[in-house]
Amino acid sequence: MSLPEVPFRVLRGQPGNQAYYTYRVPLTEGMVVLDAMHYIQAHYAGDLAVRWNCKAGKCGSCSAEVNGRPALLCSARVDALLEYGEIDVSPMKAFPLIKDLVADVSQNYETAKQIPAFTPDENDPGPWTIYPEDVERLHEFHKCIECFLCQDVCHIIREHKAPFAGPRFMVKLASLQMHPKDTLDRTKWMREQAHIGRCNITKCCTEVCPEDIHITDNAIIPLKERVADTSYDPVMWLVKKVTGRK
Ligand code: SF4
Ligand code: F3S
Ligand code: FES
Repeated sequence: MSLPEVPFRVLRGQPGNQAYYTYRVPLTEGMVVLDAMHYIQAHYAGDLAVRWNCKAGKCGSCSAEVNGRPALLCSARVDALLEYGEIDVSPMKAFPLIKDLVADVSQNYETAKQIPAFTPDENDPGPWTIYPEDVERLHEFHKCIECFLCQDVCHIIREHKAPFAGPRFMVKLASLQMHPKDTLDRTKWMREQAHIGRCNITKCCTEVCPEDIHITDNAIIPLKERVADTSYDPVMWLVKKVTGRK
């Protein structure tokens, strides 16, 4: 008995020269979209460019768009997409295209380099006591696998191309600002360099995060409050400085 076939419309090409190609792939149990791309490479188009490493949802390499929604190709189950008929697979649109499904995400690495690093008190080399609730709060932010799906979906980056560090880096900044042993005040940097004020809390970033990080509620909103406190409330800023409250 022949296996049912699923049509995949894959957006292929290089900058300025992209077109959809449809390939029919036999459905297998537990198949994910990345499996289908590998089938296409093996049977129809050996030169199909797709980036991946772990095939376990942990390296963040296989980010692309499935039916127009940012997704990890290795985590997108084909059986959950069958109701749509053809399954569209395209590269992330917020970043420059390299080829086929591979986008150039290097602008994110440039942003990462600019973030003021963890800065402990040089007179307090440790060992440190850190309370479980602080560890738990930071643990969520450290789950980030740098897939950049949140950057891809954010309309400020994707459509407006406006200066904005983006949700992934709000998560990074939150991990630093909320670290009980960090001493640096990054609020001015967040306002003037990261342009945190541009985020209008649409929460699309949170919806696509494969690690279920509550990007908006747990990172962006608390950071916005800190920026507002230090920018517009000098008393609060002084209290925080004196008490060391983060
Ligand atoms: Fe990916 Fe989530 Fe990290 Fe954004 S915050 S890069 S969506 S894991
Ligand atoms: Fe963008 Fe997320 Fe804010 S999608 S607008 S960073 S809530
Ligand atoms: Fe590693 Fe998909 S291949 S997250």
